[in-house]
Amino acid sequence: MPDEVTIHRGLDGVVVDSTRISKVMPEINSLVYFGYPVQELAEECNFEEVAWLLWHGELPTAQQLAGFLAEGRSRRFLSKELIEVIQKTPRTAHPMDVLRTGVSFLGMEDPAPHKEDAAANLDRSISLMAKIPIMLGTFYRVRKGLDIIPPRSDLSFAQNFFHICLGQVPPPEVIRAFEVSLILYAEHGFNASTFTARVAVSTLSDIYSGVTAAIASLKGPLHGGANEAVMHMLLEIGEPDRARDWMLAALAAKRKIMGFGHRVYKKGDSRCPTMLKYARQMAQLTGQAKWLEICRILSETMLKEKGIYPNLDFYSGPAYYLMGIDIDMFTPIFVMARITGWTAHIMEQLADNCLIRPLSHYTGPAEHRVVPLTQRNRR
Ligand code: COA
Repeated sequence: MPDEVTIHRGLDGVVVDSTRISKVMPEINSLVYFGYPVQELAEECNFEEVAWLLWHGELPTAQQLAGFLAEGRSRRFLSKELIEVIQKTPRTAHPMDVLRTGVSFLGMEDPAPHKEDAAANLDRSISLMAKIPIMLGTFYRVRKGLDIIPPRSDLSFAQNFFHICLGQVPPPEVIRAFEVSLILYAEHGFNASTFTARVAVSTLSDIYSGVTAAIASLKGPLHGGANEAVMHMLLEIGEPDRARDWMLAALAAKRKIMGFGHRVYKKGDSRCPTMLKYARQMAQLTGQAKWLEICRILSETMLKEKGIYPNLDFYSGPAYYLMGIDIDMFTPIFVMARITGWTAHIMEQLADNCLIRPLSHYTGPAEHRVVPLTQRNRR
């Protein structure tokens, strides 16, 4: 290793590999999944169609979709043992930790998790997509001391999630806004959690390990955890007339403001206009305008002071809150969506695998001899 090295901290700007799945184009504020603009997918498709797209590289025909829906819906159940694990989980646990443990448990239930052919991994991806919401809904009910609600196979992915949590399906406008958020969250290139998944399976570890690692990575507030942090911030601010001063004080204190900034997008997040549109619909539906008014003042102040734009989490957070969802379920909902992108990347990685193993630049002490234990002076 030469003495002079160029270090790319955080892999900033480094192109690690190629992918066919999605392309982020920050210069034109655009994101495509297999060539389809995400905004169009959000407006025209349901979440299940987008899952199919990410796994097959093309949108399904009506016949393919019908088969896929039936398959996915038939897997909306958990084993008795996994339900017991969830029932024994501390009620104070974060649902992200429940998912991390639950996916790991699913791996132990798979009799041959190392059977790495593409068909087996696609089959597991369908199961993971079907079961992750059930784990969440089960924990949601258990921690509130409520009876677990069995899933319904006549409901869509989005409808069923509300059904198993709340025992009812909200109006179509809410389901649509929720589904749009899932589509926008489904895939985003080599983001931290997707890259984590690819690193894990590049060692030929199994798909469950890759997804478990990805969940751990997504949990942090610099990544998926930001959508929860945004809502806590909005609640802390409380009223629109406090927003500008709050932001100025936070910036003066050099605080990182959740829901702003992005490693790739420096001139705005391509997904924000669509999410904002649907968040506004939720505000109208509930008659609660103030959260998006606070958002407006925060984003205007941030842009003026630092030139930094909001990201998707800035609008999905309040949108979920207006849908009546508990705040600590926001990042787990991100998992419900991103499981499609993660598993697509895992399958792509394994189809042409190369161990991911970068180098580091050593800055520790120069080489020196080991002093035997008996001769070491106390430090
Ligand atoms: N609030 C305040 N300042 C921010 C900021 C934020 N959310 N995001 C970036 N900045 C500032 C940094 O302080 C830094 O300023 P400096 O050059 O004066 O030190 C500059 O912008 C570059 O930021 P940096 O953290 O180096 O950019 P990055 O590409 O490494 O980070 C994020 C990207 C997402 C980690 C970062 O913007 C962030 O922490 N955002 C908040 C968390 C969040 O919303 N995450 C979800 C991402 S989708």
